[in-house]
Amino acid sequence: MGVKLFVGVVGLLALMVTGECFCGTAPLNTKIVGGQSAPAGTWPWQASLHWKGRNICGGSLINNQWVLTAAHCVSGANTSDLMIYLGRETQEGPNPNEQSRSVSRVISHPHYDDLTSDNDIALLRLSSTVDFTSFIRPVCLAAAGSVFKAGTTCWVTGWGAISIIKPLPANEPLQEVDVPVVSNSQCRKAYERHNVKITSNMICAGLPEGGKDSCKGDSGGPMVSKDGSRWVQAGVVSFGIGCAEPSFPGVYARVSEYQTWINSQISTNQPGFVTFNSSSSSSSSSSSSASSRSSATRAAHFISLSVPLLLLSSLFVLSFSVY
Ligand SMILES: *[C@@H]1O[C@H](CO)[C@@H](O)[C@H](O)[C@H]1NC(C)=O
Ligand SMILES: *[C@@H]1O[C@H](CO)[C@@H](O)[C@H](O)[C@H]1NC(C)=O
Repeated sequence: MGVKLFVGVVGLLALMVTGECFCGTAPLNTKIVGGQSAPAGTWPWQASLHWKGRNICGGSLINNQWVLTAAHCVSGANTSDLMIYLGRETQEGPNPNEQSRSVSRVISHPHYDDLTSDNDIALLRLSSTVDFTSFIRPVCLAAAGSVFKAGTTCWVTGWGAISIIKPLPANEPLQEVDVPVVSNSQCRKAYERHNVKITSNMICAGLPEGGKDSCKGDSGGPMVSKDGSRWVQAGVVSFGIGCAEPSFPGVYARVSEYQTWINSQISTNQPGFVTFNSSSSSSSSSSSSASSRSSATRAAHFISLSVPLLLLSSLFVLSFSVY
């Protein structure tokens, strides 16, 4: 009995350390549906990436020492100019649950293409490990072969990485928005007349119709979907087109394409990968119709996400460099 209990505790600790079983839990996330400002601890993997003291991008904690973000966020950046904040609520503070770390390594995907935004994904190694709390926890990553069918509800979170030139809106709490996945074929159609290529390394989400205002997002930040009791990261915010009238889905780096690469870079304490399949009944998904009529309410949420990347009336590709 005593021995069993001991083994059980050791086993649990081992699982927690590897992240396999521990990832994707958010004990303070009481969310069912509906969007608003996120109460503290709702998205405990959310990272704020600062460059020279300013929030420029989001990211996600994937184990106790690595953050996933977009390559365009860190392209050309000097490591010593970067800082990661976890457990952060607002950019102005106070942030009683926060832990900050400098960045010891930046690993952009070797095939990141800043012209096409293909492979817009990067890993940041923190200078030291962080302690997991209810406010700071790793997300699960979508494993190779994961299926996010059109209509699957995802959540995108961020504070608003603006262009490098623009100052940030002060005192913004972390914002959240729910968006349905859009199939790659549909997304491709929307973008091809702007000569933007949607590759299989990308996943799209957003409102095919009905997004009245600017497309908003948070570069480098996570797009997650719930699988049973766990949250699984499907995408990394990459780029989009300002959707004043015709709306375009946001485009994300498709996390499930990068399991091999991520595991080749993180040799110990690998992040938790979960095979997500919204075609199977156990996964959360909504209607497969991406252009459902519930888009009016979704549009409100979408617009309320105060994380403008670059608000332009025409094409904007969010591949700004930090220089
Ligand atoms: C990065 O920043 C450090 C500290 O400011 C500086 O010493 C170093 O030269 C910089 N490296 C590059 C490549 O600019
Ligand atoms: C996803 O689930 C569906 C329905 O259960 C199944 O037919 C399909 O093979 C699954 N796909 C993968 C890649 O597991």
